[in-house]
This record gives sequence, C-alpha cells and structure tokens, in this order.
Amino acid sequence: MAIDAKAADELLTTTRSVRKRLDLARPVPPELLEECIEIALQAPTGSNSQGWQFLFVRDAAKKRALADLYKKAFLPYVNRKDQPQYAEGDPRAAQRPRVLDSAMFLVEHLHEAPVHFIPLIEGRVENAPAFAQASVYGSILPAVWSFMLAARARGLGSAWTTLHLPYEKEAAELLGIPFERFTQVALLPVAYFTGTSFSRAQRIPGKRLTHWDRWGNHRS
Ligand SMILES: Cc1cc2nc3c(=O)[nH]c(=O)nc-3n(C[C@H](O)[C@H](O)[C@H](O)COP(=O)(O)O)c2cc1C
Repeated sequence: MAIDAKAADELLTTTRSVRKRLDLARPVPPELLEECIEIALQAPTGSNSQGWQFLFVRDAAKKRALADLYKKAFLPYVNRKDQPQYAEGDPRAAQRPRVLDSAMFLVEHLHEAPVHFIPLIEGRVENAPAFAQASVYGSILPAVWSFMLAARARGLGSAWTTLHLPYEKEAAELLGIPFERFTQVALLPVAYFTGTSFSRAQRIPGKRLTHWDRWGNHRS
C-alpha cells in the first residue's frame, strides 16, 4: 500500500505533548491501548531483543501515588537555579512560559488522567558503558514514540514525562515491578484529547543542526 505522505507528515509533525487538553473525565477502553501496543511492537530493538514490557495503571490509588512521586521531583526541577539560558531568537525562549504553564497544569492533575502508561525495558544501565545505555534505551524509546503516534491517530493524547524516575524504586514497589531486572523509562498520562487539531511546533531550524561530512559544515 502506498503511504499517504501528507497524512503521515501531519501525524508526525502534530503529535504534541498533551497536558491541558487531556479529557480527564472520559474513560479509555483497554482494547484501544492494546491496539496501540500492537503498533508500537513494530518498532526496532537492538539485536531484535524485544526486551520491552508495557504497564498501564488505571487504579486510582496507584495513580495518586505515582502523581505524588512525580510532584516530589517536579517542584525542585522547575525551581532549580541552573535553568537553561537561550539566545535571542531561540524559539525555546518564547515557548518556555507556555511549556511551564502546561507542565504546572499536569503536575496538579496527573492523578486524574484515566490511564498512566509506564514503558519498561529489560536490564539496568546505571553502571553500563555508553554503548550499552544507547542500546537499551534505543530498544524501547522508538516503541514509545510509535505508541504516542498510534494513540494520536485514535483520538488519544499523551505526554512523555520522566520526572517520577528519581523515585523509580518507589514506583516499582508500588506496582510490583522487579526493579533489578526492568528499567522504567517514562510515565505517560493517556486520555482522549479535547478539540480536534494540533499545530506544528516551532523548532531550531534543521539546517543549523545538520552537519555534512564534518562537524560544523552546514548547508546554507
Ligand atoms: C525525555 C523527555 C522527558 C520529558 N519529561 C517531561 C516531564 O517530566 N514533564 C512534562 O510535563 N513534560 C516532559 N517532557 C515533554 C517536553 O516538555 C516536550 O516534549 C517539549 O516541551 C516539546 O513539546 P511538544 O512535545 O509538544 O512538541 C519530556 C519529553 C521528553 C522527550
């Protein structure tokens, strides 16, 4: 089947972090999430290892506990002294207040999301060399992005978050995850999104970030 590049590009360029537009009141059918997992399973893994696991949390008390862990790390993170400084004209500077506002909303409402999605990968990399770290994370992160894309195509919004991970061990205990064997890589609230469309984001221009034959050689 020929791929409709326009539709694919629209999906790829408008799958945003959804926080304020998560419909917190509408339940998400488990079958729909399973469908997204089936699509995510087509992502690549190092040596075809497929060491991935996918945990959905619907239990209210557990979501509340995860949201509390998230909040515990979030507040020091947003208030940290070493905030990145952006040059004039850098789109990230203009976007910062909106991202922060949206993130502040999420921290207060994370427990209300109908589902928390925690993707996991077999192994732990705290003491591993860079090659092993890249291989392990590289064997789960493409699947998570595929999940987000598949979800978006089905009317579901999500937001990639990592701020519960400073308390990964506590989350593992809460959820019965064998911490020594499996690494949690993110926590995504998932819900139907409100409204119908999303926009492209402004990014640092690709030409400035793309090098040809040698570091620093950019095409004009
Ligand atoms: C590795 C990673 C970690 C992130 N962690 C968080 C987080 O803990 N909380 C949050 O609200 N957003 C988090 N985000 C979302 C980013 O803030 C978001 O992707 C960025 O602002 C760009 O917005 P967009 O995804 O809508 O294009 C994370 C994204 C990535 C890829």
